[in-house]
Amino acid sequence: MQWKSLVLAAAAIPQQAAAQYATAAMMRFQCSRLVVERVDPLVSPGLIQSPHIHQIVGGNAFNATMDPVNYDIPSESTCTTCSFSEDFSNYWTANLYFKARNGTYKRVKQMVNLGLQGEEGVTVYYIPPYDGKTKVTAFKPGFRMLVGDAALRTSQGQQKQLCHRCYTNVNQTPFGGAPCADGQMDTAALPNKQCAGGIRATVTFPTCWDGVNLDSPDHKSHVAYPASGSFEMSSACPASHPVRLPQVMYEIMWDTREFNDPSIWPADGSQPFVYSTSDASGYSWHGDYVFGWKGDALQRALDARCSNDQCSQLKTQTPAQATACKKQQTVSEDVDGWLTELPSMTM
Ligand SMILES: *[C@@H]1O[C@H](CO)[C@@H](O)[C@H](O)[C@H]1NC(C)=O
Ligand SMILES: *[C@@H]1O[C@H](CO)[C@@H](O)[C@H](O)[C@H]1NC(C)=O
Repeated sequence: MQWKSLVLAAAAIPQQAAAQYATAAMMRFQCSRLVVERVDPLVSPGLIQSPHIHQIVGGNAFNATMDPVNYDIPSESTCTTCSFSEDFSNYWTANLYFKARNGTYKRVKQMVNLGLQGEEGVTVYYIPPYDGKTKVTAFKPGFRMLVGDAALRTSQGQQKQLCHRCYTNVNQTPFGGAPCADGQMDTAALPNKQCAGGIRATVTFPTCWDGVNLDSPDHKSHVAYPASGSFEMSSACPASHPVRLPQVMYEIMWDTREFNDPSIWPADGSQPFVYSTSDASGYSWHGDYVFGWKGDALQRALDARCSNDQCSQLKTQTPAQATACKKQQTVSEDVDGWLTELPSMTM
């Protein structure tokens, strides 16, 4: 099983924890594309259309307005694109585009990650501390959060654990490796060179909650990272945010391979990829999360230390069932052709 080697190679951790780490259980599963559209119920609730386009995966109750608590996501959904069929959460990120020399844009699709099946989308992780016993508390209905800032164009003020890995080998080897851990291969900015195996983009969410607020005005301050050390090594949460959450992580495997022809890259030596935020730097990379697991399914899976995409506590569906779940765009627009401008530019 190739995913196993990924998981085993997945994080930079102190030497003394290697034994614990080797047995670390983490949920890692496929959520395929639900819709690509300009809707953002977290940052721009009710707005049609939101300032930039996103790829959204998860439950089909996704909508421009998703009031916390009042809008009961598991009961409003009839399907999900995730392999765990009780997970109606929505996970979304900015989209990546290739900008051709003639100025037109093409959306970059994603590869399905090793060991998983489905269509392009997001590999979702729920990671507990590696010691196998530290308790984590599942999110409450209505919970949501954001990592990253769509307006950033430099490293100044960027949250941690947002980065890109340039896979220099077509087989994505060396595969795995902790997000943001490799000084050579991992960059907060978009890679400035061709990546023969595509570009991995990761978003790692904070793991400490204030225990009260399901959201906050900036969608960030109700959660926090451990003040020192790492979540994986069970480091303490700050007193202001005492509730230890599972670590949610997104992994997106941008399939840039079809654009790796030097003759179509910019003549000035710059790199040609641009996020839907009209950002070629990569610092605007961000991820949004709206919790939507049914009942106590997530807590049961966390308590059982479920690993990968099979779990005795959870119902699963086939890749065909998951990819059959789709949502119509709220406003119909072309997302896959050569576009003369990014959808956001028309705003
Ligand atoms: C979906 O969002 C739109 C726009 O905000 C809103 O008018 C509509 O009522 C929402 N649908 C549901 C089912 O909440
Ligand atoms: C622009 O360039 C792309 C890639 O080289 C090409 O596929 C597309 O047809 C071109 N569009 C126009 C309008 O020339």
